[in-house]
Amino acid sequence: MSDHNQVKMTSMHYEKDRPAAENPLKVEDLTFRDGHQSLFATRGRTEDMIPVAEMMDEVGFWAMEVWGGATFDTMHRFLNEDPWERIRTLKRYIKKTPFSMLLRGQNLVGYRNYADDVAKAFVERAIANGMDIFRTFDALNDYRNFETVVPVIKEAGRHFQGCICYSLTEPRLGGDVYNLEYYVNKAKDLEAMGADSICLKDMAGLIAPYDAYTIIKALKAAVKPPIHLHSHFTSGMSAMSQLKAIEAGVDIVDTCMSPYAYRTSHPAIEPLVMTLLGTNRDTGFDIRHLAAINEILEKEVMPKYKHLLDDSKMSIIDINVLLHQTPGGMLSNLVNQLKQMDALDKLEEVYRELPRVRKELGQVPLVTPTSQIVGIQTVNNVLFDTPEERYKMITDQVKDLCYGLYGKTAIPIDPEVQKKALKGYPRGEEPITCRPAEVLEPELEKAKEEIGDLAVDMDDLLIYALYPVTGKKFLKWKYGKEEPPKEVRPITLEEVKAREEMVKKALAGELVEKPKKEAPPKSENARTFNVFVDGEYFEVGVDEVGGSPVIGALPQMPVMPAVPAPPVKAPAAAPPAETPRPAAPPADAGKPEAQAPEKGAAPAEGTPLVAPMPGMIVSYKKEVGDSVAEGETVVILEAMKMENALPAPVSGTIKSINFNSGDSVAKNDVLCVIG
Ligand code: CO
Repeated sequence: MSDHNQVKMTSMHYEKDRPAAENPLKVEDLTFRDGHQSLFATRGRTEDMIPVAEMMDEVGFWAMEVWGGATFDTMHRFLNEDPWERIRTLKRYIKKTPFSMLLRGQNLVGYRNYADDVAKAFVERAIANGMDIFRTFDALNDYRNFETVVPVIKEAGRHFQGCICYSLTEPRLGGDVYNLEYYVNKAKDLEAMGADSICLKDMAGLIAPYDAYTIIKALKAAVKPPIHLHSHFTSGMSAMSQLKAIEAGVDIVDTCMSPYAYRTSHPAIEPLVMTLLGTNRDTGFDIRHLAAINEILEKEVMPKYKHLLDDSKMSIIDINVLLHQTPGGMLSNLVNQLKQMDALDKLEEVYRELPRVRKELGQVPLVTPTSQIVGIQTVNNVLFDTPEERYKMITDQVKDLCYGLYGKTAIPIDPEVQKKALKGYPRGEEPITCRPAEVLEPELEKAKEEIGDLAVDMDDLLIYALYPVTGKKFLKWKYGKEEPPKEVRPITLEEVKAREEMVKKALAGELVEKPKKEAPPKSENARTFNVFVDGEYFEVGVDEVGGSPVIGALPQMPVMPAVPAPPVKAPAAAPPAETPRPAAPPADAGKPEAQAPEKGAAPAEGTPLVAPMPGMIVSYKKEVGDSVAEGETVVILEAMKMENALPAPVSGTIKSINFNSGDSVAKNDVLCVIG
């Protein structure tokens, strides 16, 4: 038995001035990034971090993760916040604790590999704006995708934390691909690249406690840099895994403040502080100080976010993760996607198809963006494949993966699938084996030409280069060229209170306040009718005012709907682009959008191209009047963070185009008509 769990001190107290431990556990706080990304679809606003920022700085965290991952996307797209500004603002309040960001290697904070010039400029600007630690990962664990960003980090004297994405093909550690040897070799690769620390990144909460012990022990023996464990709570194992990792000698672990902890997020800090209090791994944190931070978060911040929490189930863990070895976020995305396509009954089929697709696509780890790539392709296969033909609708991202544009997969991609995916692929039908970014042309100059004066500095330009459609929209809001829509505005505590009052009233059936009238006395002629409304039964007394009613045969009571049906809209003949629509949620939004009514039947003189799923129009590849051949790409539709090239259903001429780039569309919306 190890002596880690022996309490060493006789006098223990909560306060920070207790005697320091021999080897205190270091803790990175994730509240301001992974915490709200995991629980609240990354909707955390800077203004809601400020009330506790200075107090958080006093805790003694090894680092605070405040940026990267999905924050960059969500901030400019949904919050009308300049992502760069967040780092600078928080730096004014958090002066001692180093800042950490999640960097998706050559994917930066997006969902594809960017060209080297963009990658370099992005990391340079992150450093200039105040970033200290770069937690860098690649979805395929292909470290050639680190080769551009790492020298920029190292040359600036910043901390390069190399990640190994934790993945499984079996229920527990082992098998031919993701076994102990795999992880030890990856750690050695990172050490050779100059990693200042090495993070085992368990994004799906898959790591079982004894496997955590085994791996951390092995990594500590094999490499010198400090070892960091990042493990999501999703499956319910991570607090146990953390403790076993601590016993195995892990240097740093990740936690969140308790209101941002558990569920798909991370274990909370407070129980960990108590667990280690007085031991040789004592964090030294003041638990009363943590409690004071929590009180502010609970009172001033959480009310604004509670409605985003997925509380559809009692359980705060997802045992599907244990059953399918798949990230919880990915599973809920699949469920949402199927729901939106009215195909929730296909879920079991999707679960069955998923391991098959994953294996065919090279047994990739499942993490953004590969989790989306595999997930959406699986859904496409289940919905669109026929017994004669698999992979009928291949996403552009799968094509890119097959080409080698994301990097090297853990095992080779199924040659048949690869061949089919690369048929007519614009970069060539022969896959590459070099570092992916080597085939990418520089992007910054082109981006600069496109966006022109709207991008005032490099930070603006990078927003556009990373997110051309939503980035451009954001820059228009930022510089007052366009009014930002209502839904990107922050919500105040007063508004929250008003909303809660409304909900209370609605639940009490008082939303429509009925004027209270004295009932007149019932005459002897009053007749009673049984009325059924939507399955509910009412007894209605009818008494004619001023005389007795003459009722012969009782008329057939039509069953009225409780809510009048909306007027049926005429089929949209004019472009409906001006119809305001809520923006499509990102894959991690967690809340399916209400299905919009179908956008009318196709005009008589043509074949419509309809949206097979809800999403956002990226671009039209054709204009009105252009001729197209059947199967040729007409529209690029972004759905669940993936771009889908939609082919022309028939050959002909483009008669009408119904949307613009950036518009959100519902399933079955007519995107264009070919005649
Ligand atoms: Co995470």
